[in-house]
Amino acid sequence: MAFAMKALVIFTLLPLVSFLHPSMARPANFARDFHVTWADSHITQINGGSAIQLLLDQSSGCGFASKNKFMFGHVSMKIKLVSGDSAGTVTAFYLSSETDSIRDELDFEFLGNRSGHPYTVQTNVYAHGKGDREQRVNLWFDPSADFHTYSILWNRHHIVFFVDAIPIRVYKNNQARGVAYPNAQPMGIYSTLWNADDWATRGGLEKTDWSKAPFRAYYKDFDIEACAVGGGSCSSAAVASSNWWDAPLYQQLNAVQARAYRWVRVNHMVYDYCTDRSRYPVPPRECLAGY
Ligand SMILES: *[C@@H]1O[C@H](CO)[C@@H](O)[C@H](O)[C@H]1NC(C)=O
Repeated sequence: MAFAMKALVIFTLLPLVSFLHPSMARPANFARDFHVTWADSHITQINGGSAIQLLLDQSSGCGFASKNKFMFGHVSMKIKLVSGDSAGTVTAFYLSSETDSIRDELDFEFLGNRSGHPYTVQTNVYAHGKGDREQRVNLWFDPSADFHTYSILWNRHHIVFFVDAIPIRVYKNNQARGVAYPNAQPMGIYSTLWNADDWATRGGLEKTDWSKAPFRAYYKDFDIEACAVGGGSCSSAAVASSNWWDAPLYQQLNAVQARAYRWVRVNHMVYDYCTDRSRYPVPPRECLAGY
């Protein structure tokens, strides 16, 4: 059943991949669009800068960030995660306003696991300084065997986290119901690989096995379709299609996406803060407002 559904989802979504990118994506280039924020020695450009390798060893993790900040758009990367025994490691890909007290942030965090155990993707949404909105999904494939596309759509209507073309999380703009929504500050694009064995794998029970180090994650096909703020400009792809991510088609999930999203929630979601009664005896307002 799960397999049939998986095939169904993937086949019916295939045409959507091009549909999701009506303009030809402007391939971002690592050297042009990003800079290293942490441990230069641990980030290596490969294939002429179109791909990079992040490395974690006992001395350091590493990270990079976009040179620009953006106001709405669609950002995606292909990532091949740390393989083998990756317990304790966390690879993150996120948008953040990097403003201390009133931070807006949209997080993808990939929590490693012991060999043969499923990789978990944790997502979180910070709006106006408040996060604590974790959801976790166990991936239905081995994300270290090959590159997969991880993307975030952010417009005035909703935020959608996609794994390949499949929505794994939707955070709607429920400002009318008094729920904070990130729409007042530009966000940059960030990524890091680090050791988080105090919490990442089974709540910190599983420690990083340093005898398996160094750990490596690979990134390629950076795609930023968004408007840069402060001196920058919209990427050419964005101008060409006059901000396609604002169009009515992208203001809510279509029927195929909604079905795929349900499939993820029913079959692959392993944690949802909305249903964690020990943490939230009264569910946060956005949980009641529906997904
Ligand atoms: C790791 O694998 C265990 C056992 O299958 C699973 O319960 C857990 O959700 C997985 N992910 C993490 C991050 O611990």
